[in-house]
Amino acid sequence: MATAPPSTYSAVTLNINGEKHTLTVDHRTTLLDALRERLDMTGTKKGCDQGQCGACTVLLDKRRAVACLQLAVAAEGREITTIEGVAEGDRLHPVQQAFLDLDGYQCGYCTPGQICSAVAVIEEHAAGWPSAATDDVRPEAGPPPLTAEEIRERMSGNLCRCGAYVSIVQAVARAAEADARAAQDAPDTQGAPAAQGTEHEGAAA
Ligand code: FES
Ligand code: FES
Repeated sequence: MATAPPSTYSAVTLNINGEKHTLTVDHRTTLLDALRERLDMTGTKKGCDQGQCGACTVLLDKRRAVACLQLAVAAEGREITTIEGVAEGDRLHPVQQAFLDLDGYQCGYCTPGQICSAVAVIEEHAAGWPSAATDDVRPEAGPPPLTAEEIRERMSGNLCRCGAYVSIVQAVARAAEADARAAQDAPDTQGAPAAQGTEHEGAAA
């Protein structure tokens, strides 16, 4: 006869990169450990394991989160995106391509977290979110130019022990420019080109 799991365990269903995974976890299991140790999704890295380095960054409902500070049971019902789910099939995400083209890494250990973070940074900026480096945060001022200073501030939760920061900033800027171009070229709902100079205005380093 099957033994019931201890009361400190629960079955959770995690929606990761569009696929559902059901597993029984100790309530204290972090999302990071569930990904790496239980689901063999080792793209998400463990650095400090205490929310300091950003190596474990994933997207929860498209917003950045450090997986080492999230309990797996609390991630049920959220849309979880890890580095394994950033590309579209064989086509790299523009952020991944920019990191590759501009050598935005050395050892690569921090890179999955940097890339997940950068994906969200570009979306946050395009949506008009200010950062601590933004001079004018009034809504009517619109999105600030995505300068190197803005990128450094917005990516400051992701540490790189190799110090590849110069290339990382360049890669984020290039991917943001590509994103802005794509947004401008995309037809709007009427089939006409999208208006220029709106969300992505000034998205250059
Ligand atoms: S391993 Fe999660 S922030 Fe460092
Ligand atoms: S590339 Fe080595 S830690 Fe960032």
